[in-house]
Amino acid sequence: MAILVTGGAGYIGSHTCVELLNAGYEVVVCDNYCNSVPEVLERIKQITNKNIAGYDCDIRNRAGLEKIFSENSIEAVIHFAGLKAVGESTREPIMYYDNNISGTVTLLDVMKEYNCKSIVFSSSATVYGNNPIPYEETMVTGDVSNPYGRTKHFIEQILGDVYVSDNEWSISLLRYFNPIGAHESGLIGEDPNGIPNNLMPYISRVAIGKLPQLTVFGGDYDTKDGTCIRDYIHVVDLAKAHLCALNKLKSDPHSIDAYNIGTGIGYSVLDIINAFEDATGQKVNYKIGERRAGDLPAFYANPKKANEVLGWHAERNLHDMCEDTWRFQKNNPNGYKKD
Ligand code: NAD
Ligand code: UD1
Repeated sequence: MAILVTGGAGYIGSHTCVELLNAGYEVVVCDNYCNSVPEVLERIKQITNKNIAGYDCDIRNRAGLEKIFSENSIEAVIHFAGLKAVGESTREPIMYYDNNISGTVTLLDVMKEYNCKSIVFSSSATVYGNNPIPYEETMVTGDVSNPYGRTKHFIEQILGDVYVSDNEWSISLLRYFNPIGAHESGLIGEDPNGIPNNLMPYISRVAIGKLPQLTVFGGDYDTKDGTCIRDYIHVVDLAKAHLCALNKLKSDPHSIDAYNIGTGIGYSVLDIINAFEDATGQKVNYKIGERRAGDLPAFYANPKKANEVLGWHAERNLHDMCEDTWRFQKNNPNGYKKD
C-alpha cells in the first residue's frame, strides 16, 4: 500500500516524502511541476536511498489521476498540490479557484471511485482571519481577505460536506503556520520562482547577495518592536506532523478534524533577522518600509490539540530554522537550477 502525495515535489511535500520514505512508506508523487522541478525527486532518493514513483500530472486531469490509482494501491492521500501566492491570487482569482478547488474536487472524486477515503489536507492559519490570538481550532473560520485564503476555507468546507455525506471518509485538516528552514542535508529546501513573497527566502537571498536589501513591511505595529509577529515552524517538524496525522487516521478512522501545526511561539520580523544573523554569521541588509496590505499584526498557534491528540511536537528551534535555511541557500545559490 502506498501514500499518494500531490504536490510532492514542492517545498513542504518534498520534506514530507523524505519522512514518509524514512518511516517505511511507499510513496507516489503527483505533481505538474508548475512550482517545482523533477530534480527534487532525485534529491529525495539521494537523501533516503529509497525509490519514489513520480507522475507528471495535474490534479485537474481526471484520466491522469485514474492512471495513478489504477497502477498503485493507494491507501491514503496527502494533498499539498495548490497555488499559494496571496498577491497573485487577488490578480488571478479564477486561476486559483480552478487550480485549488476544481483540482481538489477532481482528486476527491477519483479517490471515491477507487474507494480511497483517507486524506490529509494542507490548510493554512490564514483561515482564522481576524480571530483573537492564539488561534484555536474551535474558532469560527472563513473571515479571509484574499482568494488564496478562501480556497483553503472552501476546501475545508467541501471536505466537511464529503464527510457528512459518507462518514467512511477519514480526513485531517492541517492548518500550517509559517514554515521555514530546510532539510539538514542541504539538498532540499524552499526555492521560489522570481522574487520571493515570503520573509525567510527573501532574507536568505539578500544574505547570499542575489537581492540588495530586505524591506521590513511596517515598523509601527502595536507589537514589542513595531514589526509583525508570526509563528515560524521548521519544515521538517511540519513534515513529521503529516505522519502523525496519518497514524491518527489509521487508529481513529471515519473522522474529520482540524489541527494547528505551529510552535505556539511568536517571533517578530526583527527577531528573525537577528536570529538569522546569529545562526549564519551573515549580515542582512534591511530597511523599515511601508506596511504590506492585508498583513495582520500578529498571529500564532495554540498547538495543544496537535500535541495531545496527534502526539506531535515541534522539536526544532529558530536557530535550527535559520541554520538549515542558510545551508540549502549556500549549497544551492541558484536553487534547483544548475549553475
Ligand atoms: P509549493 O508551491 O512549493 O508546492 C506545491 C506543489 O504543488 C508544487 O510542486 C506545484 O508544482 C504543485 N502543484 C500546484 N498545482 C498543481 C496541480 N494543479 N496539479 C499538480 N501539482 C500541482 O508550496 P508549499 O509551500 O510546499 O505548499 C504546499 C501546500 O501547503 C499548498 O497547498 C499551500 O497552499 C499549503 N500551505 C503552504 C504554506 C507555506 O507557507 N508554504 C502555508 C500554509 C499552507
Ligand atoms: C503569508 C500569506 C499567508 C500564507 C503564509 C504562508 C500574505 C498577506 N499572507 O503570510 O496567507 O498562509 O504567507 O505561506 O501574503 N515580511 C517583510 N518583508 C518581506 C516579506 C515579509 O517584512 O519581504 C514580513 C511580513 O510583513 C510578515 C512576515 O514578514 O509580517 C512574514 O511574512 P510572510 O513570510 O509573507 O508570511 P505571512 O505574511 O505570515
